[in-house]
Amino acid sequence: MGKRCCSVALAMVMVMGLVSLTLATSRRSMMTNGLGMTPPMGWNSWNHFSCTIDEKMIKETADALVSTGLSKLGYVYVNIDDCWAEISRDDKGNLVPKKATFPSGIKALADYVHSKGLKLGIYGDAGYYTCSKRMPGSLGFEERDAKTFASWGIDYLKYDNCHTDGSKPIERYPVMTRALRKAGRPIFFSVCEWGDMHPAEWGALVGNSWRTTSDITDTWESMISKADHNEIYAEYARPGGWNDPDMLEVGNGGMTKDEYIVHFSLWAISKAPLLLGCDIRNMTEETMEIVANKEVIAVNQDPYGIQAKKVRMQGDEEIWAGPLSGNRIAVVLLNRGPVRYSITALWEDLGLAPNSAVEARNLWEHKTLETRFVGNLTATVNSHSCKMFVLKPIA
Ligand SMILES: *[C@@H]1O[C@H](CO)[C@@H](O)[C@H](O)[C@H]1NC(C)=O
Ligand SMILES: *[C@@H]1O[C@H](CO)[C@@H](O)[C@H](O)[C@H]1NC(C)=O
Repeated sequence: MGKRCCSVALAMVMVMGLVSLTLATSRRSMMTNGLGMTPPMGWNSWNHFSCTIDEKMIKETADALVSTGLSKLGYVYVNIDDCWAEISRDDKGNLVPKKATFPSGIKALADYVHSKGLKLGIYGDAGYYTCSKRMPGSLGFEERDAKTFASWGIDYLKYDNCHTDGSKPIERYPVMTRALRKAGRPIFFSVCEWGDMHPAEWGALVGNSWRTTSDITDTWESMISKADHNEIYAEYARPGGWNDPDMLEVGNGGMTKDEYIVHFSLWAISKAPLLLGCDIRNMTEETMEIVANKEVIAVNQDPYGIQAKKVRMQGDEEIWAGPLSGNRIAVVLLNRGPVRYSITALWEDLGLAPNSAVEARNLWEHKTLETRFVGNLTATVNSHSCKMFVLKPIA
């Protein structure tokens, strides 16, 4: 009896082992393009330009990413969003770049962008039409379109979720995953399913990032709600697969400087893709100062790839924190309210020993504070503002 029970238990262990081995194998085989080991950085046309795009402004944007120095900071993806193709496929069924706006074709544009040391992204849809309804989607044409993208030298595909056949995203998206793998060129796959069916739970098997939210708009309320919603799924983020709360609005004019600093800080600490959404050719010094903050970018690009979580919420006051490499911790003290607060991050919330002494680097003031902190770090934070620190315990 005892023997029998144990051999049953052993058999179960073996079956479970097999199951997890199979899972691990399929996990590896679904999305093994090796891309996105840190969150992608670059630019996307939608937030500023929506459908008003053409090859000239895409090239000028690529030039501006280089001349401003942003490409050196890691902003290398130049991503074309919706409206780049003709409404009809050619007689072989291929997508056709819109003649009026992309007369030289996408291959020539990719060559140009690559010649600048940058990467070209494009946009498609897991339905019959894209969201603008001005060009076809890839549903039923996945292999053909993946091959086309690969032949043009595309490096990134944002894949939207409009005008579908009603089937579930978890059925439609992997068809493009397989098509991209077959097409033989590593293409970052950005699943843009808007968070409808909890893509964080399956996204890592299918793509390199997955939208956790509906579209952002250029307001404080929209921005902060995307950050909130994205935070719920923090534990699913990892190198090669990221939660995506949508692209940046910094520089588009709808928020104050402090609010844009909050936007950029929360995206950075959340390991979100840093895809600029303003007109790179015409950025103010203020916008540049925000998006070119190397120390904040370094938090986003930390090799551990661990997404920060809210470790304390008290009314309008929040502490967001997450571990970084080198035994460090990134912290954002966020004030969501209408008046100034003094906000305290407690060591117990940050996972630090109560008596550990810590050096604090203020990432927006570019200053290491002289005070050594023990037990907590307290700072005053203005309305709709934040402070961002990297903490390092000292021996
Ligand atoms: C450049 O930006 C400023 C505001 O920052 C705006 O007034 C101006 O119209 C922009 N120029 C172009 C060509 O978009
Ligand atoms: C924070 O630390 C300081 C110095 O150790 C201490 O005096 C203060 O009471 C602490 N504040 C809180 C809210 O724990």
